[in-house]
Amino acid sequence: MKLDVNGSVHDVDADPATPLLYVLRDNLSLNAARFGCGLGQCGACVVMADGEAIYSCITPISVLEKRKIKTLEGLGTLEKPGPMQRAFIEAQAAQCGYCIPGMMMRAQALLEKTPNASEAEVRSALQPHLCRCGTHTRILHAVARAGELMRGKS
Ligand code: FES
Ligand code: FES
Repeated sequence: MKLDVNGSVHDVDADPATPLLYVLRDNLSLNAARFGCGLGQCGACVVMADGEAIYSCITPISVLEKRKIKTLEGLGTLEKPGPMQRAFIEAQAAQCGYCIPGMMMRAQALLEKTPNASEAEVRSALQPHLCRCGTHTRILHAVARAGELMRGKS
């Protein structure tokens, strides 16, 4: 089946019941999304589909054929990081980093819909995401900064 990921259409040879996370990592070598719980309970695997945050560990590719999937790799590159990536680097918001790609994709989905999201809205959006390292304060700073960058502030 065909999957549109980060603006490129890929022919994927996988069972339609396969969760997107495995296809991203094993078939497409897009390794940003992480396997944490595999149950939709930690947020490590979150990516976007048509602008909405989804748990890739429990979403079969069969329901994604007509949707535009975006992963952290689609937000920018090492040489040219996007606003969300720049903000997380500036804030040094990662410790082990395991939770960070999912956090960033959820925050990206929020800010694309609500560019002026308040801190309360950011906290509420990120509530399903677990971080074992306790970097929550820096993550909140990073998302606030990403909002500024996305609104054109330097
Ligand atoms: S790995 Fe998907 S929510 Fe935990
Ligand atoms: S930075 Fe380690 S789990 Fe969040």
